[in-house]
Amino acid sequence: DPEETLKPRAPVVAVMGHVDHGKTSLLDALRKTNVTKGEAGGITQHIGAYQITAKDKSKITVLDTPGHAAFTEMRQRGANVTDIVILVVAADDGIMPQTIEAINHAKAANTPIIVAINKIDKPEANAQKIRERLLEHEVIVEAMSGDVQDVEVSATKGTGLDKLVDAINLQAELLELKARPDRAAEATVIEAQLDKGRGPVATVLVTRGTLKRGDTFVVGTESGRVRALIDDNGKQVKEAGPSTPVEVLGLGGVPDAGDQMTVVENEQRAREVAEFRQAKATESRTALAPT
Ligand code: GTP
Ligand code: NA
Ligand code: MG
Repeated sequence: DPEETLKPRAPVVAVMGHVDHGKTSLLDALRKTNVTKGEAGGITQHIGAYQITAKDKSKITVLDTPGHAAFTEMRQRGANVTDIVILVVAADDGIMPQTIEAINHAKAANTPIIVAINKIDKPEANAQKIRERLLEHEVIVEAMSGDVQDVEVSATKGTGLDKLVDAINLQAELLELKARPDRAAEATVIEAQLDKGRGPVATVLVTRGTLKRGDTFVVGTESGRVRALIDDNGKQVKEAGPSTPVEVLGLGGVPDAGDQMTVVENEQRAREVAEFRQAKATESRTALAPT
């Protein structure tokens, strides 16, 4: 994209870590709502996507990833739209299998990590031990002479949240994140489902351009037209710019997480692109089929 039309965009942050280390609680605390209480058994069943506004009015887009092993693939796909990984490690529990998995995903995707050492309020919390153990996985925090920022936090007590936001903003500045808002949108599906009343609904993250009500699009191999856009507060909006998560109504079917949504000029073009993608999908299936 030409340099002059590029505008700064909010960082997209994925919160990753072992089950029950406090990912959702940390996001709740940052957002000051209460998502964990509404979850079945306190286990995140899907990837939530929303934007928080810091005290200095800067925006941060956050993806809450499920802590369940079955969601590994979705999480891998999630890492591709992610600018920064917040690695949540419970200070009383330490480095666990899914902590290591998250480190490996971040490294494979070349995504910078910020370590949030959580549950620092617990008497058995040992932040120094976590810093030392992270060395074994080649995550070298600043206190250990590395360049990975680490912040001690308590999601439940609200400790260290401002420092975490500062760390995110500092990392985001280094990345010089930019996008063109004044072009046809491209977005990535974060999650999608069939809603009884509303039909197929997808939560997408706009990666380029501005997605507008009435836009014709292709998502995966399906075409559609934006009937409504709903923001992360449940409010209808007319458009969504780069780094904005938004719910889209008006899909022809339920896409997969990770599918690309591309806005096109008209329905005929949408059909052409959809057919092209279908043919390509069939081709790769045929190529993979055993002979
Ligand atoms: P999954 O999505 O299931 O992987 O869990 P999660 O990582 O989102 O953890 P969640 O936010 O559901 O928190 C798990 C438990 O830890 C809950 O009982 C929280 O109340 C508790 N917890 C989270 N953060 C803190 C903290 O800073 N201090 C203490 N003492 N408890 C915490
Ligand atoms: Na949990
Ligand atoms: Mg959770």
